[in-house]
Amino acid sequence: MPSSSNTAKHAKKMPQIGYGTWNRDEQQAYQGVLDALELGYRHIDTAQAYANENAVGKAIQDSAIQRGDIFITTKVDPVNYGPGEVAPSVERSLQELGCDRVDLLLLHFPSLYDKYPLQDYFAQLLQVKQQGLCDAIGVSNFTKAYLDACLPLLGDEQITCNQVELHAYMQNNAIVEHCKKLGIVITAYSPLARGALLDDPLLNDIASRHQASASQVALAFLMNQGYAVIPSSASKMRIQENLDAGKLQLSAEEIKQIKTLDRGMRLVDEDWCPRWD
Ligand SMILES: NC(=O)c1ccc[n+]([C@@H]2O[C@H](COP(=O)([O-])OP(=O)(O)OC[C@H]3O[C@@H](n4cnc5c(N)ncnc54)[C@H](OP(=O)(O)O)[C@@H]3O)[C@@H](O)[C@H]2O)c1
Repeated sequence: MPSSSNTAKHAKKMPQIGYGTWNRDEQQAYQGVLDALELGYRHIDTAQAYANENAVGKAIQDSAIQRGDIFITTKVDPVNYGPGEVAPSVERSLQELGCDRVDLLLLHFPSLYDKYPLQDYFAQLLQVKQQGLCDAIGVSNFTKAYLDACLPLLGDEQITCNQVELHAYMQNNAIVEHCKKLGIVITAYSPLARGALLDDPLLNDIASRHQASASQVALAFLMNQGYAVIPSSASKMRIQENLDAGKLQLSAEEIKQIKTLDRGMRLVDEDWCPRWD
């Protein structure tokens, strides 16, 4: 089970399965988070760029679950990486989310086209942590080169997590290995390849052996290797189905077979995304 090994006294472990909220409008994000918490999720993933932090926060407040029992991740939008802009943007996020700190704060992407120097916006992230606005810091979509550039800037702090695209069709082995060496937990985003792998014959064959679904096999494949996963669904039934994937134990042979499905199928591939190295 991955954990964020940060230094804050009250920092909690990041639950291995979380509920993703990208592309969910306010109503969907509200209902999805409410359903996810009711069903047992204790890890919610949002971002400034998703424009739904307010709905996520409202669902958390309206749920029967205490804030202290929920692990909240949000991400700083690269448009807020300018000088002196990171902390005010995080304060706005906290106001939207209705809490005084998040459990994990990520830089959503390296600055687009390197508009802002990494030294500057990363230093601002560290400052936000020192201010106590988050319990742990991390990054998302950071390549090996960007991670390496952060290392001399860290001081006593740690990058606890790199959230990257990772699914059976895009196994991203080089960055995974690099993060392992650095002790950085991997969170797999788009773990279901946005549905693209659900008709896969091998995943369905393995699923039938376990009385499970292809989506559960796809998630178990990632979780069995120690990654956190943050699938998203608007359907309460599928939110439950995804959570239940945590109970599925695949054999070493099945994992080996699924590894052969890797085809470098990158879904988040805009021209401003860094190339994986
Ligand atoms: N850091 C980043 O740059 C970044 C980028 C992308 C995503 N993310 C995070 O990762 C989360 C998940 O990624 P994602 O939303 O891109 O893709 P995903 O979770 O791989 O796939 C979501 C899609 O799969 C469908 N689905 C979900 N569960 C299913 C099931 N059990 N059976 C069949 N279909 C199912 C959903 O449809 P229904 O709603 O109809 O169920 C939805 O269309 C995001 O919500 C976001 O929090 C982060």
